[in-house]
Amino acid sequence: MIVCVCNALKERDVREAARVADRNCPKAAFAQLGCKPKCGQCLPFAREVVSEARNAA
Ligand code: FES
Repeated sequence: MIVCVCNALKERDVREAARVADRNCPKAAFAQLGCKPKCGQCLPFAREVVSEARNAA
């Protein structure tokens, strides 16, 4: 599933980035993937994916 349309980020990529990011926030995961939020529409879902991934780690 696509998390971020603007950056074409898949849920799997965001999950993986969240595990290695140093902070529990979507922006850190995006930075890990070499991009940043643009329109911001994806942030609520990205936040969910990030915290799930980090809680599971
Ligand atoms: S959908 Fe992620 S910034 Fe636009």
